[in-house]
Amino acid sequence: MQRLVFLGPPGAGKGTQAAALAQVLGIKHLSTGEILRSHVAAGTPLGREAEGFMTAGQLVPDRLVLAMLEAELRAPAASAGFLLDGFPRTLAQAEALDGLAPLDRVIFFDIGEGTLLERLTQRRHCPQCGLVYNLVTKPPATPGRCDQDGTPLVQRSDDREDAVRTRLRVYQEQTAPLLEFYTRQGRLRRLDANGPVEVVATRLRAALG
Ligand code: AP5
Repeated sequence: MQRLVFLGPPGAGKGTQAAALAQVLGIKHLSTGEILRSHVAAGTPLGREAEGFMTAGQLVPDRLVLAMLEAELRAPAASAGFLLDGFPRTLAQAEALDGLAPLDRVIFFDIGEGTLLERLTQRRHCPQCGLVYNLVTKPPATPGRCDQDGTPLVQRSDDREDAVRTRLRVYQEQTAPLLEFYTRQGRLRRLDANGPVEVVATRLRAALG
């Protein structure tokens, strides 16, 4: 059983690596961003409250995210282990998580800010199957269409340049302090997140032993 956290700035490649690793390890991939986007798409009360914050690139208030995550961690799907991607993002969330579940490792995706803006503004995804592309580093075979099902690709509303800049600032202000929090607990492992996806995946497997 593994209980992992992926920490790092927007666009560091957390989601890309988490989807693949969770499958290999047979543990639940819990992306709070993905779960929130599904609430927005379904028009739930949580989704209606969260949408404005997300589009602007701001964090959704702790009380909303914590209630949502607690329910996910209690679900049977997470009982064999989990990989948290995008949570915690504030000190209050990290402290609450300590009381909910013991963690094995926190992997910090370490990457220079220079590449993040381009990675995010060039990201597209398939609204049908969720596959993530990048117009520069992972373009679809047919421009604008998903390789898997041919659905027209779309851009996340918070991947516009102004929202990306806000997300990068919010990360520095509210999430980066967690590095010290987890270093003090002795749980943090630094991962060099520069370079191609496969190279980062190899480093990740090494970091997890
Ligand atoms: P969330 O969905 O978590 O977004 P994020 O943390 O900003 O992370 P991203 O998904 O943008 O980046 P990533 O690191 O996963 O990169 P990816 O692998 O996709 O959160 C969205 C919003 O939800 C937040 O702003 C907030 O409003 C709300 N929210 C979520 N959690 C919250 C919480 N806990 N508390 C409060 N609010 C919360 O890769 C990016 C691109 O780069 C892709 O195109 C990919 O193909 C490409 N790429 C990936 N790896 C590589 C590589 N090695 N080389 C080249 N290209 C690569």
